Amino acid sequence: MNLKKLYIDFFISKGHKQIPSAPIVPENDPSVLFNTAGMQPLIPYFMGEKHPYGTRLCDYQKCMRTTDLEEIGDKTHHTFFEMLGNWSLGDYFKEETISYSFEFLTKVLKIPVEKLAITVFEGDKDIPRDEISASMWKKLGISEKKIAYLGKEDNFWIAGETGPCGEDTEIFYFRSNDPVPDYFDPSDERWVEIWNNVFLEFYKNEDGTVSELSQRNVDTGMGLERVVAVLEGKDDNYETSIWKDIIELIEQLSNTSYKDQPTSMRIIADHIRTAVFVSADPAGIKPSNTDQGYILRRLIRRAIRHAKKLGIDVNSNWELQIAHLVIKQYKEYYPELEDNQQVVLDVLESEKKKFGRTLEKGLREFEKITKNLTNQKIDKDLAFKLYDTYGFPIELTVELAKEQNIEVDVEGYHEKFKAHQELSRQGAKEKFKGGLASTGEIETKYHTATHLLNAALKIVVNQDTHQKGSNITSERMRFDFSCDHKLTEEEKKQVENLVNEWIEKGLPVIKTEMDKQTAIASGAECMFIERYPDIVTVYSIGDISKELCGGPHVSNTKELGHFKIKKEEASSAGVRRIKAILEETK
Ligand code: SER
Repeated sequence: MNLKKLYIDFFISKGHKQIPSAPIVPENDPSVLFNTAGMQPLIPYFMGEKHPYGTRLCDYQKCMRTTDLEEIGDKTHHTFFEMLGNWSLGDYFKEETISYSFEFLTKVLKIPVEKLAITVFEGDKDIPRDEISASMWKKLGISEKKIAYLGKEDNFWIAGETGPCGEDTEIFYFRSNDPVPDYFDPSDERWVEIWNNVFLEFYKNEDGTVSELSQRNVDTGMGLERVVAVLEGKDDNYETSIWKDIIELIEQLSNTSYKDQPTSMRIIADHIRTAVFVSADPAGIKPSNTDQGYILRRLIRRAIRHAKKLGIDVNSNWELQIAHLVIKQYKEYYPELEDNQQVVLDVLESEKKKFGRTLEKGLREFEKITKNLTNQKIDKDLAFKLYDTYGFPIELTVELAKEQNIEVDVEGYHEKFKAHQELSRQGAKEKFKGGLASTGEIETKYHTATHLLNAALKIVVNQDTHQKGSNITSERMRFDFSCDHKLTEEEKKQVENLVNEWIEKGLPVIKTEMDKQTAIASGAECMFIERYPDIVTVYSIGDISKELCGGPHVSNTKELGHFKIKKEEASSAGVRRIKAILEETK
């Protein structure tokens, strides 16, 4: 059964448009490392921005949740997963979405009504009990005994600390061969949540207050891996058709069976699959010691450690074989996996080489350390040594230690880590003083050129064009903007000419601080107003551009050199991407 196809076809038949999966690393949202839900890339559209595909959307979205990374190894957790979703952007609301969910589950997937149960919001002092959803479920044939009213912790949804939010109604499935009980008890673990319908009516601000959105939206999400498990009658997600080939390959590589070594096999399967998706993502994440790169590093290193534990020859190309299989399995849906295949393989191989060199020695060191312990506790110095000398992410040390009931001074480790970083930062500064500071200067120039490009696009393409993302390296700038068509040669030329004209004019770049409301009232451009503090920095360039921005910028456009567009391409639905460079003026 192809659940993705069934889902998309169903919602298309209900007037929805399929949108492509957004990258797993959000392009415009520095507040999260990865998209954790299908709705995340759609946030601006819940707030009123027009989506180029209309008001009824559906997709399958690459998602990742890493807060419970340590739980991977059990039957149901994954770091990467796919989420099926349908959305109403100010279009239909509670009754329609509930009837779609019900029809899809009972008619398309043919799940017996008796196996379904529902939770709805019980209400609080601000929001009334959700009788509309409850009565719709009853009307469709769900017995009253199968509907539970729960509070905010269960039936109110928000992606993080701030953002669009609202009450929800969740659908549960009875995953057991036992007879289905008459009454639904949400704390009975045989009932598993399979689908969430969220009614995004509110926006939670940074100060904790909640305001009403200008439109009422629906956001639904169904975790693909879990639903496939349910439909295939498995209580272990890794025994479903999704994982079958990968697990079989790991069995072959290790010459052991899943039955005997489920935990390590799940960890390897999950982590390599995720590493493939993350390194194939357009953001170009590479293993490192910060942010997404650190997660990627931890995943690969943990997978290597477990491969070793299973007796796989870690110097063979085992990880590449698994990666090839993942790519083969998913490329039809996510073509970037095949397009970036070489990058993926390089990332895995080089990270393995880096870690492989020290893993063996590190494990020996670990054994030595644990043998000599007097109090079953690894102190911060030892934990740091394992990191610094042997490349053990602290989480790996903790995991190894846990297997022997040993504690690790994680807090102390972090303090030591910070102090060490501070030292290297100072070292780097010293180096810059020695004449290597130019990279910062180049990036500063690109920063200013980004504002000029944004202003030029508004003139040449359309006044309503907005920035959708930006990324700067010392080699080039990349700029995403809303636009419904491929730029013509003529338009590109005009944009280039305008930017160069402004550069040649030698316009001053002025930085001012003001309160946020004044900045907006004065017409300053910004991407997500609610993400800025009350006092903001505004950069103006002559009278052609004014933007909320943290900087840094050059002080006069003359410093930029010559602006040249290298590439213009589609980025995602309704979003175009320009790559451009600054050349020395001839
Ligand atoms: N955003 C909601 C969730 O993740 C519904 O998709 O549960």
